Amino acid sequence: MKGRYYITTPIYYINDVPHIGHAYTTIAADVMARYKRLLGYEVFFLTGTDEHGQKAQKAAQAQNISPKELADKMVSRFIELWKVLNISNTGFIRTTEDRHKRVVQHLFKTIYEKGDIYLGEYEDWYCVFCESFYTELQLIDGRCPDCQRVPQRLREESYFFRLSSYTDRLTKFLEGNREFVLPEIRYNEVLSFVKGGLKDLSVSRTTLTWGIPVPFNEKHTIYVWFDALANYLTGIGFLEDDQLFRSFWPCDAHLIGKDILRFHAVYWPAFLISYGLPPPKRIFAHGWWTIEGQKMSKSLGNVIDPHEVVKEYGVDQFRFFLFREVPFGMDGDFSKKAIVHRINGDLANDLGNLLSRTVSMIERYQGGKLDSPGIKTGVDEFIENTILDLVESYMKEMELFSFFKALQYVFEMIGHLNRYIDSEAPWRLAKENRRRLSTVLYNLWNGIRIVGVLLYPFMPQKSNEIWRALGIRKEIEESQLESERFFFRIDDLAEIVRIAPLFPRLKEE
Ligand code: ME8
Repeated sequence: MKGRYYITTPIYYINDVPHIGHAYTTIAADVMARYKRLLGYEVFFLTGTDEHGQKAQKAAQAQNISPKELADKMVSRFIELWKVLNISNTGFIRTTEDRHKRVVQHLFKTIYEKGDIYLGEYEDWYCVFCESFYTELQLIDGRCPDCQRVPQRLREESYFFRLSSYTDRLTKFLEGNREFVLPEIRYNEVLSFVKGGLKDLSVSRTTLTWGIPVPFNEKHTIYVWFDALANYLTGIGFLEDDQLFRSFWPCDAHLIGKDILRFHAVYWPAFLISYGLPPPKRIFAHGWWTIEGQKMSKSLGNVIDPHEVVKEYGVDQFRFFLFREVPFGMDGDFSKKAIVHRINGDLANDLGNLLSRTVSMIERYQGGKLDSPGIKTGVDEFIENTILDLVESYMKEMELFSFFKALQYVFEMIGHLNRYIDSEAPWRLAKENRRRLSTVLYNLWNGIRIVGVLLYPFMPQKSNEIWRALGIRKEIEESQLESERFFFRIDDLAEIVRIAPLFPRLKEE
């Protein structure tokens, strides 16, 4: 084992059904989790649901059921979707679980006893939808700066977290950890927010009942973000399984959307430092998807159900599209035209043809049994070295969540391999030079095997189908990138036979 790796997604609200935005973050975390396993890490991959707070309470009221009943109903929608999308999470947390209540109350009480939480009074503009207070200055034309709804003036007794006393500590921490927040644009945003000076944060409500009570003053309910962020501790056994907890904390990466950056990159480290735990190692905040050029919203009726996309295009095609289309970290637009274009161009043409041409030639010219290679020429050295170099580049990008660049390298490889077929013309070699034919087919076979491994985090099922088409008898998840990244011969190969296209071509509108 190479080490341990802990990655999380946000825990999603249960007032709404999961859509492609939720799918995006969860698939991204799955890509990283699978990649790290390929490198030999023991991975803990946590996702879950955020079940407390006003949003859940309101949604439940509207359906005439209790918030807990709503949560029980909705949580299965998430779990089901993660199965369909082939998500390999190792943990699932619901904030209504007892184990979580214990953690949240313990954190709150300890921080209170240390003096970083105190009782005060709060008055400001409160947005019910965002469950956040805003100052007059933050409002835009009298409306919530995040959702543009009209906020209410609220005044209540509240516990406060002494965030103001963390301005210097967090500034120093951020300046010493320039890759704490990725991409860089988000890091800069966080740093300038912190440097601007932090204000104390209200961390309890007396007007809200659906949540975890302050343990020493039950009139107060703990602020939903304090509750939610603590899931990252509960999920790996905090206060329950010390050994598990210690082997995975601090977390390697919290993957989130850019909408919830401040909670993760400012409040969360401050809570942890106050309690006495090290902050997470990294926060990656990705961009926002729009749909056919428009913001996704219930009122526009354009919310995309991932089940529909999967039914129409296939799970792996969907997973692949999300990271091939848009640099991870930037905003992107989801359109049918774009996904069809990607499937036909990258998958059916470039990758699909490479595989089917190679497999058919091994079947036709070598009776389905891959021969040992002959002597290498300059062209063969070039293709081998190019692929080895591209693997290195891919690995560097994957470490930084640069999935888009990593995939570009894979498609560069595919391009080289396709051109190698064209330039070496194996059909001619079959008549004129059988030794050289063996070398060329051997190199193609190796190149595609490696492409399969590199695509595996993105397309776990299709990549395994690629391996099966190459006659390889084991699954990619039983292998390690470190040993698979070189050219070599496998003796125990199944017969290689022509297969149906892995990525059927779609009709373009
Ligand atoms: O914020 N494009 O939950 P949530 C890309 N419970 N990603 C999107 C997206 C879009 N259009 N829409 C949503 C919460 N997301 C809290 C989190 S964590 C301690 C508590 C993704 O259900 C993105 O990851 O509103 C975003 O951060 C998350 O869904 C918000 O999910």
